[in-house]
Amino acid sequence: MGEAAERPGAAARRYHNGTKHSAAKLQTDQHYLDWEIKPHPFKIYPTIEPIALPRDGAPLTVPGFTAISASGAVAGGSTVAVPSLAVLARILQLSAGITRTKVLPDGEEYYFRAAACTGALYHIDLYVICADLPGLAAGVYHFGPHNAALHPLRRGDYRGVLVEATASEPAIAHAPVTIACASTYWRNAWKYQARTYRHCFWDTGTILANLLAVSAAERLPTRLGYGFVDDTVGTLLDLDPQREAPLALVALGWQPSTPRPQPPPAPVHFETAPLSSREVDYPAIQAVQAASSLATPADVAAWRTHTLAPSPAPAASSAEVALHAVDAAALPTESIDRLILRRGSTRQFAPRPIAFEQLSTLLQVATPAGASDVGGSTSELYLIVNAVEGLAPGTYVYQPDGKVLQRLRAGTFRREAGFLGLGQELPADAAVDIYLLCDLDLVYGRLGNRGYRVAQLDAALIGGRIYLAAYGLRLGATGLTFFDDDVTEFFSPHAAGKSVMFLAAVGHGQRAPIHG
Ligand SMILES: Cc1cc2nc3c(=O)[nH]c(=O)nc-3n(C[C@H](O)[C@H](O)[C@H](O)COP(=O)(O)O)c2cc1C
Repeated sequence: MGEAAERPGAAARRYHNGTKHSAAKLQTDQHYLDWEIKPHPFKIYPTIEPIALPRDGAPLTVPGFTAISASGAVAGGSTVAVPSLAVLARILQLSAGITRTKVLPDGEEYYFRAAACTGALYHIDLYVICADLPGLAAGVYHFGPHNAALHPLRRGDYRGVLVEATASEPAIAHAPVTIACASTYWRNAWKYQARTYRHCFWDTGTILANLLAVSAAERLPTRLGYGFVDDTVGTLLDLDPQREAPLALVALGWQPSTPRPQPPPAPVHFETAPLSSREVDYPAIQAVQAASSLATPADVAAWRTHTLAPSPAPAASSAEVALHAVDAAALPTESIDRLILRRGSTRQFAPRPIAFEQLSTLLQVATPAGASDVGGSTSELYLIVNAVEGLAPGTYVYQPDGKVLQRLRAGTFRREAGFLGLGQELPADAAVDIYLLCDLDLVYGRLGNRGYRVAQLDAALIGGRIYLAAYGLRLGATGLTFFDDDVTEFFSPHAAGKSVMFLAAVGHGQRAPIHG
């Protein structure tokens, strides 16, 4: 059913409500992991000759914190910024490349990647659409983490197709390179079933947090694009519309000239290796993807006029604690590439408290005013503080404008944090749990079903930055899943009516990550 025939956001609301976790639902869940059909975590094109990527970029000198804070906020507009192949290679590698290998007890090698991913199932691939660059001819390429290579899907300058698909979004038009993120659902749905559509954005968010920070360190402007004609981008990238979906575009770099809009290209249909002997379809994923798709450039242009206004600043409250960030001069100077290379989700937190300055820095760095084609952020940060020196344990909501934490409830909530995080120990042991909530009704009212994608990815990008900032501070972090309605209820009445999009836990790691 078309969006016009229903309440705005009806399809997204159906999907979101239908994929909520609750204790009762988990108890009756019949799903089991069928190891016989565990999908291969890589997209392999047997007939395409790969182009090996160089690994010889000059050392990055920009401190990691500077890069994370500037991520997504480096504006293009007057300075020519065209990445070379070596720079592009580093951006891809530090966003979605393999960074560590673990040999399992049965001898199987397991490959971990630069960004955290639900279940380490790695269903998000990156694609490059570019003009002629120093070292790389114009074309459309798939980035293969397994061989650290580009796979040419189309040769020639196809950026005009993106200009058409985004209704002439200026950042895309001026970008020498656009990077597209796409999911092959089955690689994640094998374990997470229909909930994978949420993970499409969660796992894109952690990748893009890296990508935007590394690009900032390379002094390249970036702009995140949510609005595009899905079918056109899917055809350009040779995606299978039943099994795969383009999720987001990132315009990278700037040059004065712009390509002419081009109509969608003819399909190419490259062979890809089967992921497993059989795949299971989850129609709820296809339904929400279709309902949140934009069909024509006119639809994209109309959609983009409904940008998000910044949320009104809440009234000042007496229970406010002003942030007190680590002095800029005292921040670690480790570069973003080194930080990403030692990143890994914390598997056990020590009960030791973190400093209030560390929490303050993390909150500030994780919520920069990033640039996207829909304007402001949709996320609100709610905290359970378990152990932060100088901050009473309890629940808080962060107000980024005033850089203050508003206290909601005093008390020790470790047990509750454990329950809300699906009964896991990680959120109970962490120093702080940060829940990203969103007023979805407000988002649907402005952006319809596609607003759901914005809300999920906006939260996940902040989550990805929380990961990076925590590691930069020599702390540990992990993403976590949660019981949806219980989280809202826990933070109510303040959070009444809001939905949880992402959860990140931060603290001191008890020991090195299992694969570290
Ligand atoms: C959005 C998100 C949710 C996650 N949820 C959980 C979780 O509920 N429990 C858990 O132990 N790990 C969770 N993880 C951590 C992943 O298992 C981890 O990222 C993956 O195994 C890859 O390992 P790495 O992050 O150390 O590279 C989550 C990660 C992300 C990005």
